[in-house]
Amino acid sequence: MHAIVITEPGDPNVLSWTEVPDPVPDSGEVVVDIAASAVNRADINQRLGSYPPPKGAPEYPGLECSGRVAELGPDTQDSGWSLGDEVCVLLAGGGYAERVAVPVGQLLPVPRGVSLVEAASLPEVACTVWSNVFMVGALRSGETLLVHGGGSGIGTFAIQLAHAHGARVITTAGSEEKLARCRELGADVAINYRAEDFVTRVKEETGGSGVDVILDIMGGSYLEGNVRSLATGGRLVIIGLMGGRSAELDLGRMLVKRLSVQATTLRARPVEEKSRIVSEVSEHVWPLVEQGTIRPIVDRTMELPNAAEAHRIMEASSHVGKILLTR
Ligand SMILES: NC(=O)c1ccc[n+]([C@@H]2O[C@H](COP(=O)([O-])OP(=O)(O)OC[C@H]3O[C@@H](n4cnc5c(N)ncnc54)[C@H](OP(=O)(O)O)[C@@H]3O)[C@@H](O)[C@H]2O)c1
Repeated sequence: MHAIVITEPGDPNVLSWTEVPDPVPDSGEVVVDIAASAVNRADINQRLGSYPPPKGAPEYPGLECSGRVAELGPDTQDSGWSLGDEVCVLLAGGGYAERVAVPVGQLLPVPRGVSLVEAASLPEVACTVWSNVFMVGALRSGETLLVHGGGSGIGTFAIQLAHAHGARVITTAGSEEKLARCRELGADVAINYRAEDFVTRVKEETGGSGVDVILDIMGGSYLEGNVRSLATGGRLVIIGLMGGRSAELDLGRMLVKRLSVQATTLRARPVEEKSRIVSEVSEHVWPLVEQGTIRPIVDRTMELPNAAEAHRIMEASSHVGKILLTR
């Protein structure tokens, strides 16, 4: 088969469409013939050499894909999946390829009403947002969620899912166009972080009390502002470090407001944990997608061998939602 190989750490030119060995399924895995894959910010970090794949994962980038089951590996006969089934898949790597081997617990059916190609945009954002905002952050109907980077793949999904669950959603983004898209997706308040101080605006919009949950992709540079933006009993869930990995934390403020700060990553979790998240997503999130309450937000679709150009577009941050790669 062919895959996008990272020839050495570096700029997008190091991504090369190369002939590589076919994947061989382990016990409990199937091989998926890939129709489409999606670009995630983490793929850029992997390309730069700062986010290596976990042990045992394929070395090629790509954290999600859609396609058809092409081979049933050992011990998958009773898995409920059959040859030819259309699936979308949460991966630890290897999505920028023609085929990938994956544990059956990480397969999801393509939701009714979503095309096979569009389905590639869903697994990583659905699993990340469900596990962090609902399983970790325990967001409840009537509470307020602050989502940073509302125009991102993660942000566009988080806004829709929280809105569908009856939460009030506040989001940040860096352009008026992105803010308008966020409002269309269900954001109640959209803050231009380049023009306004988000902490001041969050306080104004919440009558001084702050938000209940924050889904944060910035890390260090937003830690202080996030802690100041939380209401009593608030939960900050950090999933990205685009603003650096360290900062000072005011424990006094945490103590007085009874706050919690957690940071998680999906990719490195054991297969059993990922499978539990996938199963919860299938139960709680897929029905909303099938009803049309949550839509895949696809910025553009490009050809997989042209992954370098897709990375350039993501690095320029001109996209809203997901960039797809098709064969
Ligand atoms: N931990 C996990 O398991 C996990 C899983 C998936 C993703 N993630 C993380 O989630 C983040 C988003 O991933 P993605 O693939 O959705 O990336 P993406 O589509 O490239 O989005 C990144 C977004 O960040 C926004 N941004 C940049 N600086 C900002 C700032 N100061 N304040 C607010 N927004 C800002 C950018 O747009 P504008 O600046 O134009 O608004 C852009 O929309 C990444 O950090 C990724 O690593 C983590």
